[in-house]
Amino acid sequence: MRIDVVSIFPEYLAPLELSLIGKARQDGLLDLNVHDLRDFTTDKHRSVDDTPYGGGAGMVMKAEPWALALSSVAAGREDATDRKPVLIVPSPAGERFTQALAHELAEEDQLVFACGRYEGIDERVIEWAEEHFTVRPMSLGDYVLNGGEVAVLAMTEAIVRLLPGVVGNPESLIEESHSDGLLEYPVYTKPSTWRDREVPPVLLSGNHGKIAQWRRHEQYRRTAERRPDLLAEFDAGKLPRADRTALGDLGYDVVDGHLRLRPAEGGNGTPAEG
Ligand code: ADE
Repeated sequence: MRIDVVSIFPEYLAPLELSLIGKARQDGLLDLNVHDLRDFTTDKHRSVDDTPYGGGAGMVMKAEPWALALSSVAAGREDATDRKPVLIVPSPAGERFTQALAHELAEEDQLVFACGRYEGIDERVIEWAEEHFTVRPMSLGDYVLNGGEVAVLAMTEAIVRLLPGVVGNPESLIEESHSDGLLEYPVYTKPSTWRDREVPPVLLSGNHGKIAQWRRHEQYRRTAERRPDLLAEFDAGKLPRADRTALGDLGYDVVDGHLRLRPAEGGNGTPAEG
């Protein structure tokens, strides 16, 4: 995979040389290049921003340096396929970046990240870029960062670790949070007693069936407590009876393949029996 990042703070992307992503680059699994947007300015001050039409606070990123930078990145594709590269524009106004999207983007040949700063990039760049790229404005979450760089670090790590050969033990990608629409189960290591706290005994039982079932039920319990929104989306069509029972104990019924939280009886906050 090839990744290009355009930013006015290329040094911000230095962590992409470290750890798992740095190793993927060294191993030739990832060709990652960071470009300084100011290298594509033509004025003496290397300016990348100007005041917004219509007035208002802050500055807007000028269109021309972006068009020159993105054209240069699109032109530098040596083994270009017919597929347009995907241009990801990090923005709190984008679609939400999820694990499912990370998997989808890990299938692409080339990703280009355009890191906006200030109040954003002149919207005409986004329209123009549609001719050369598949453009996807993307948000890390419902909060505002100072620019796209931190979002690029997060998205790149989430995507690159899914590329074949990047994570040493691919099985660890299967049993992690969000891989099956649920949060991950809790994990423990030695010693089995630590500061008077015991590891759940089932994990020491050697009974792999029971351990798998306990872990699954812990996933349901955690997800119900921390992210009930995920359970509302969960495909509960083909769950074994033990899973339905565990979810029933948490107050969820399976209705038409979906989980529905049973209304509390008597308003005391505890789920109804049954
Ligand atoms: N830039 C500023 N805020 C952002 C966010 N929440 N996600 C992605 N990019 C951003």
